[in-house]
Amino acid sequence: MARSLLLQQSLGNPPLASSYALYESETSVAQYCDAHYGPDKLGVANFPAHLAHLCASAMLGKPKRSALDLGCAAGRASFELATCFDQVTGIDFSSRFIDISRRLKERGRIGYRLIEEGDLISDHGVYLADFGLEATAPKVNFYQGNAERLEINDHCHDLVLVANLIDRLSKPGKFLSGIHRLLVVGGLLVIASPYNWLDNFTPRQQWLGGRFRFGNPITSLTGLTKKLSNHFDAVGEPQDVAFVIRKTSRTFLHNISQVTFWRRVS
Ligand SMILES: C[S@@+](CC[C@H](N)C(=O)[O-])C[C@H]1O[C@@H](n2cnc3c(N)ncnc32)[C@H](O)[C@@H]1O
Repeated sequence: MARSLLLQQSLGNPPLASSYALYESETSVAQYCDAHYGPDKLGVANFPAHLAHLCASAMLGKPKRSALDLGCAAGRASFELATCFDQVTGIDFSSRFIDISRRLKERGRIGYRLIEEGDLISDHGVYLADFGLEATAPKVNFYQGNAERLEINDHCHDLVLVANLIDRLSKPGKFLSGIHRLLVVGGLLVIASPYNWLDNFTPRQQWLGGRFRFGNPITSLTGLTKKLSNHFDAVGEPQDVAFVIRKTSRTFLHNISQVTFWRRVS
């Protein structure tokens, strides 16, 4: 309870209005429920489950006491991580996402409504038990919080997952400069991003890459590496992982995230 209050108080200024409105909308929540718990689409495997398996593989032989999932949305990666971590915390700025994730944890079921075409809709229900995730769900806690203003005192996570979040932050560089504080030395940071920089989420001067600096093109991986190099070593090679968001029964967003792994060294 006290920790929840601390997070509630640390929300600070909301993300840019467009980001706030988007992720509080019923449509967006339904689309992410479907992306996290609905059937695979266009032959692409479930993104958050795939990421959690990559995290588990990268953590083989390492302590797995505590994991943090920042920008957890409907919570699938948090629930998946709980199958191998002792404790998992999922944080999202959207109160609607936190409500739905908590409901899934507590009642084991959620319902959501998708657009088929035009005014035609369909109702869907999913059970955590269908994914074999209900036994470990008590190890997960969900809190509303702003990833850019976290004031948590327990800088002790063995793993921090930041999935498809950095290009939705107002100051991703500042966020990355402080993220080592959330991990134990030796802990693993996993960042996935399609680097889909948009001015209405991230002011252009704050983009990590995807722009020119003094006439030279800067990639997001270069910008990311620069921001993290004081405290992290890169682990392995970046990996591409696809994810699909269903807009309607016939319209899909097919994105490719670049997944990078970083070990905290100081
Ligand atoms: C593109 S979605 C990705 C969700 C999930 N990680 C995934 O990969 O499926 C971005 C998520 O980050 C959340 N978010 C955006 N800005 C945030 C912030 N400043 N702090 C915490 N969460 C934020 C949104 O509410 C949304 O759930």
